[in-house]
Amino acid sequence: MTATPLLQAEHLVKEFPVSGTGGLLSRGDTFRAVDDVSLTVAAGETLALVGESGSGKSTTARLVARLIDPTLGTVRFDGQDVTGLTGRDLHAFRSEVQVVFQDPFSSLNPRHTVERIVTAPLTYQGRKPPGGSRAFTQSLMERVGLDPQQWQRHPAQFSGGQAQRIGIARALAVGPRLVVCDEAVSALDVSVQAQIINLLRQLQAEEGFSYLFIAHDLAVVRQIATRVAVMSGGRIVEEGPRDRVFGDARHEYTRTLLAAVPRIRPEWEARRRARAAERAAAAPDPVPADATESVRRGA
Ligand SMILES: Nc1ncnc2c1ncn2[C@@H]1O[C@H](COP(=O)(O)OP(=O)(O)OP(=O)(O)O)[C@@H](O)[C@H]1O
Ligand SMILES: [Mg+2]
Repeated sequence: MTATPLLQAEHLVKEFPVSGTGGLLSRGDTFRAVDDVSLTVAAGETLALVGESGSGKSTTARLVARLIDPTLGTVRFDGQDVTGLTGRDLHAFRSEVQVVFQDPFSSLNPRHTVERIVTAPLTYQGRKPPGGSRAFTQSLMERVGLDPQQWQRHPAQFSGGQAQRIGIARALAVGPRLVVCDEAVSALDVSVQAQIINLLRQLQAEEGFSYLFIAHDLAVVRQIATRVAVMSGGRIVEEGPRDRVFGDARHEYTRTLLAAVPRIRPEWEARRRARAAERAAAAPDPVPADATESVRRGA
């Protein structure tokens, strides 16, 4: 018997109204940003969602975090159907799933202090910070590698990497079981990116929560994912364990994505080449056998 996945999305569809009058679509039409997406995330694992810009990654993330309603489909969390939750029940669900966004400077209120930002998810739920607001804020700051003395500073007084740590602290405040990272490290310099990825991995090891980790950069994904789902045109076109997807991509689109990644691990590259050779050998020969024979003989 397999355990119930922590998150299970089934046949999610999200249609947006098309407002413009130009182009091929006319007013009143809808556009399917997410088109029949099913995915699961097990407790403690990291599912990476990759794909080109506009493929529907963020929309999928917002659907599973219940920030937007699906047009069709179901979201189950820990076996419970959470698709139709409203009011208090939706508030309760918010403590299970938290989102870290790409740009901390636009996702954190610039007029609020770190204290107010990281306690907001609790306040929203009518909960009091355990141990008091200051102590709670400072302990969260320590856990994400920030100086706890700076608990009353504003986001603009921090660097990009530090500000993203505030966003991570805010996500941790309610003790979530799933953290959705939507391009959470994409805007950071490579060295800062590596530090934040290490922090995310360390926090996961401590807390045991799961990640739905969205990134367009496969070099980042390979550092953190246990499984990878590839999106294109609103659909998941390929899904599997990280090493399988990186080493033996089955879908043409995934191979194109992978081909664009520099610094691929040598063992994956070797495996990819071996599989490509196997596939070539197994493919039916387009040239008739006797013709090949004659060519060989003639060679
Ligand atoms: N609120 C909305 N109203 C209308 N269209 C939307 C809305 N949100 C997203 N879309 C459209 O849905 C498609 C998927 O968008 P989404 O943001 O999910 O892509 P993405 O894979 O996250 O892209 P990126 O890598 O650029 O972040 C895009 O064509 C986008 O323009
Ligand atoms: Mg996006």
